[in-house]
Amino acid sequence: MKDGGVVVWVVGDSVIKGNKSLTSFRQALYFQEIGFNMYDVIIYEKAGTAPPHKNRYFNAFEYMFVLSKGLPKTINLIEDKPNNWANHTTFGNVTRREQDGTLTPKGKKVIKPFGIRTNIWRYNNGKGFATKDKIAYEHPAIFPEKLVEDHIISWSNEGDIVLDPFCGSGTVAKVATELNRRWVGIEISKEYCRIANERLGLECTEQ
Ligand SMILES: C[S@@+](CC[C@H](N)C(=O)[O-])C[C@H]1O[C@@H](n2cnc3c(N)ncnc32)[C@H](O)[C@@H]1O
Repeated sequence: MKDGGVVVWVVGDSVIKGNKSLTSFRQALYFQEIGFNMYDVIIYEKAGTAPPHKNRYFNAFEYMFVLSKGLPKTINLIEDKPNNWANHTTFGNVTRREQDGTLTPKGKKVIKPFGIRTNIWRYNNGKGFATKDKIAYEHPAIFPEKLVEDHIISWSNEGDIVLDPFCGSGTVAKVATELNRRWVGIEISKEYCRIANERLGLECTEQ
């Protein structure tokens, strides 16, 4: 990966004999050991419902580790968190702290309708919510298109290349195309390649 490149690693934990695997943590620490920078840890909160467990709280999230080589070259933070005092003028003067510690008055400001979102991202992930493409649900574990869209916007610009080495039903490829990014998808299962190709309207060439 080039300097400034970003990896988004989405991972949850399994439970083995009542013991959380913590595979997520192990992988995160390993990424740091081999030289990646852990730029952010974002929670993918799943809004979809599922039958409750008997003995533990229902797990409603996965981690999304945002790893970079050096610092990310592209950072387009999404501003969609409604501000409480949107369109009001600040009560007092806004000040800027200078390097020598003094404060420079910057006058009053109008509060923008939306601010930068937090690092907990919530998506509807159930059947019918993740995508409108029926064919995609032939894959058992698809990402919501919106989740993919938010990451591609955040960490790349038009014309950049997005690689998905575990591309499943082709969600990343689909959204990358819509957002004018180039893409490369890799998938080990021929059946899932068929699903992705059909979803993307591509010819499937057997190797
Ligand atoms: C969680 S799914 C990804 C789903 C995808 N994000 C989507 O929205 O459809 C992970 C995929 O990785 C594939 N996979 C697992 N090991 C792989 C490998 N070594 N090389 C390529 N693909 C692999 C699996 O077959 C599976 O389709």
